[in-house]
Amino acid sequence: MARFYVLLGPPGAGKGTQAKVIAEKYGLVHISSGDLFRENLKNETELGKLAQGYMARGELVPDDVTIAMVRDRISRPDCKKGALLDGFPRTPAQADALAAMLKEFDSKVELVPLIDVPAEELIERLSGRWTCRKEGHVFHQKFNPPQKAGICDIDGSELYQRDDDKRETVENRIKVYTAQTAPLIEYYSSRNLLVKIDGQKSIDEVTKDLLTAIEKA
Ligand code: AP5
Repeated sequence: MARFYVLLGPPGAGKGTQAKVIAEKYGLVHISSGDLFRENLKNETELGKLAQGYMARGELVPDDVTIAMVRDRISRPDCKKGALLDGFPRTPAQADALAAMLKEFDSKVELVPLIDVPAEELIERLSGRWTCRKEGHVFHQKFNPPQKAGICDIDGSELYQRDDDKRETVENRIKVYTAQTAPLIEYYSSRNLLVKIDGQKSIDEVTKDLLTAIEKA
């Protein structure tokens, strides 16, 4: 049966950083709803144009649009073995929609690791983040610097700072997380799927803890 995991956590908790490593280790597809929106933005699609304003303000893109986008991605053949979802679901309505779509594929969410990091640290992480243009690999000027400033260690592409990593936008993204996404902690706890991971440890230690949690599930 296909295996689906949901990485939950506030903006800047390290979901993208960890998802890349874990998906590769288990041969799973990494589906980041934020990356899908950014790809649409770059390609100037209708979906990208619709998402742009919400993303710039640090608000959530409406559920119906987001659910349709993720559904389309999960339906592709490369997800037959499963996927690691990063940034989706973000509301209880998205979580219900995910359960329903996985049921259609005779599958379900196996585990929801919550990467837990306090708000003060998130601002520092996001204001120092550098993202690669080609594949979205992430670095941090202090916590995970690239070998050569401005260049991705992995694929040599240019590193840039995301528009929504400005302080005011980050503050709003954290507020939106608390109001609209944090209820998923109870949603998945009550279904015995949630496992809390201390996201304040080093990147390698967090990876180790995530792998242990997945192996145990
Ligand atoms: P999205 O792209 O999903 O952003 P996010 O959830 O806010 O998460 P980030 O990508 O900012 O952080 P991350 O947890 O992946 O952290 P990272 O690994 O980069 O969404 C963007 C927007 O799209 C949303 O605001 C919304 O508008 C829209 N959207 C997306 N999905 C949606 C949905 N489902 N519904 C509606 N709207 C949606 O790490 C951050 C930094 O910290 C990096 O520099 C990294 O090097 C560093 N770092 C990582 N781990 C550690 C560590 N352990 N110690 C020290 N530094 C670390």
